[in-house]
This record gives sequence, structure tokens and C-alpha cells, in this order.
Amino acid sequence: MVVKAVADEIGPDKVGVRLSPFSDYCDCGDSNPQQLGIYMAQSLSKLGILYCHVIEPRMLTMFERHETNLSLLPIRKAFSGTFIVAGGYNRKEGNKVIANGGADLVAYGRLFLANPDLPRRFELDAELNKADRSTFYTHDPVVGYTDYPFLENNGYHAKHQKVSQQGEAYTARGDHKPIILIQT
Ligand SMILES: Cc1cc2nc3c(=O)[nH]c(=O)nc-3n(C[C@H](O)[C@H](O)[C@H](O)COP(=O)(O)O)c2cc1C
Repeated sequence: MVVKAVADEIGPDKVGVRLSPFSDYCDCGDSNPQQLGIYMAQSLSKLGILYCHVIEPRMLTMFERHETNLSLLPIRKAFSGTFIVAGGYNRKEGNKVIANGGADLVAYGRLFLANPDLPRRFELDAELNKADRSTFYTHDPVVGYTDYPFLENNGYHAKHQKVSQQGEAYTARGDHKPIILIQT
């Protein structure tokens, strides 16, 4: 009802919904998350909304991957619009799920948080900054949110000028230790 009301008001093409039917924390576990997800996807599909974004079944808890045989495919098949997946993806797995038709788009959480230039790093297959869990959900507007370093020179020299040089990124947190090294 809420999604329908919003879609009626602003147009379904401006509405996207994110679902975590498999999540099992904060009292939100369900006895049959797969069926719940399929039902939700079918209902949202009927409303013609722009996208449905679903968290992978392996992310039962917020940040740990759990072994499971469940897949998002049945939910993907139940939704006719753009299907986005998230949860524990890296570059390789993201490319794979797109190639397999398991999703139209992949959303990255921690990797994007820790790597403000993530698309560039994926393009170069560069090393990634590691997210610092101790600074998740802090009230500081900078620490843990906008202080992760970019690749120096945006990795441009390392890749395109074929100069034998090292691109180094320095932490913005004050200790100025090189934390990324790109070898060409
Ligand atoms: C600092 C932080 C804040 C987040 N806030 C939200 C949120 O408000 N709503 C939400 O649905 N997910 C939130 N997430 C979860 C991410 O969107 C994503 O689902 C999760 O990190 C798993 O994806 P990943 O393995 O790519 O990180 C947050 C994650 C982090 C690290």
C-alpha cells in the first residue's frame, strides 16, 4: 500500500525498493524468506516500479557471509524491472553475476565506502582500501565516511602512460603511510 501510494503520487518510474528478506537480525527474521521475497517481487513488479534491490541470502547478518544454497534467482525472475543485488560482492563476483544474468546491477557497500574511486579501481583492477569497521555508524561526518584516500593521480599514470612508476595513495587520517601500491 505504501509503495503503491508513492508510485501513484510521483510515478512508478521514480520508485525503487530495497529488500532484505533473508536478514536475520534486529527481530526481522522470517520463516520462509525465499517465498516472502518472491511474493514481494511479484507485487512490486505489478506496480511497475523502476528497480528492486535485494540483499543476498548469504548476508543473514549485516557484514558476515554465511554458507547457503539459496539464491536470488527466483526473486530476480519474479521481478520484471531492473534488478540490483548487493551483499559481499567483489569485482570478480560482480562481473560474474552480471554475465550470468543474475542481476542488472551490483551495489557495493563497504568497498565503496572505503574506496571513493571504486569504479576507477575496478577498471584498473587496482588494490583496494580496506573498510575500517570501527568507524561504521559513527556521528563524525568525516572519519570513516569521507577520509578514505583516492588513488594518487587517479591511477592514470600507472595504467595509461605506461610509465614505470608507482602510484601511491596516502591515508587522510594523518599518518601518511602508503596504503596502496600499484605496480606497472
Ligand atoms: C556504514 C554503513 C552504513 C549502512 N547503512 C545502511 C542503511 O542505512 N540501510 C541499508 O539498507 N543498508 C545499509 N548498509 C548496508 C549496505 O548497504 C550493504 O547492504 C552491506 O554493506 C552489504 O554489502 P557489502 O558487502 O557490499 O558491504 C550500511 C553499511 C555500512 C558499512
